[in-house]
Amino acid sequence: MARKPFIAGNWKMNMTAESGKQLIQELKPLVKEAKCDIALCVPAILIPAMVKAAKGSKIKIGAQNVHFAENGAYTGEISATMLKEYGVKYVIIGHSERRQYFGETNETVNRRTLAALKNDLCPIVCIGETLEDRESGETEKVLTRQLEIGLAGVEDIKKLVIAYEPVWAIGTGKTATDEQAQETIKFIRKKLGKMFCVKDANRVRIQYGGSMNAANCKGLMAQPDIDGGLIGGASLKKDFATIVNYNK
Ligand code: 13P
Repeated sequence: MARKPFIAGNWKMNMTAESGKQLIQELKPLVKEAKCDIALCVPAILIPAMVKAAKGSKIKIGAQNVHFAENGAYTGEISATMLKEYGVKYVIIGHSERRQYFGETNETVNRRTLAALKNDLCPIVCIGETLEDRESGETEKVLTRQLEIGLAGVEDIKKLVIAYEPVWAIGTGKTATDEQAQETIKFIRKKLGKMFCVKDANRVRIQYGGSMNAANCKGLMAQPDIDGGLIGGASLKKDFATIVNYNK
């Protein structure tokens, strides 16, 4: 069965209720005919307003993180139940910015992923190497650890999405080449085949993320193992619709 392409935006800590609503209203008619799944992962406080704004369109709203506990004394955190209550479908887990600035580890990524799955949220699990890793030939080793620890105990791999985001390509304007992205994502799929089974690995959607934009999306999306994109900067403007319509 063919994998349905999936283009997701990550607004990071950008937008307000007003500007977000405006952008979604602009995007709605532009993405009407899209053949792919579409999500915008927005700051938690904007979720209710953006779910309302996106109603009746193909755009689903996602979150940018989720805590692993059901509830409890975790000041500042948000549980999967809370996200679900507001109509969230997807949740980004283990973004490199969370790993870099907020102490996220492969172990906490694993706990968050299991909690999201238990609550029927679709995790978008982010993995990726730093420039130093790539230059020292450690890319595959780093990705292997991220997958082995991050996805430990996952029963049905098809229920999640992987986003391969090389850290050196995020927000830098320096995209991985089509070949580099394809080669690495192919490696990830092969690794998933060994960890789970080949049949399931062939059905997991794997996105590319890192300076993906309206100009380079076509080439990346044409690669056989790339099933979508996780878009930062370009998801804050109308360009996002161009990426969603990459095949037009
Ligand atoms: P940019 O598209 O801004 O490089 O960000 C990518 C990203 O981190 C998406 O999660």
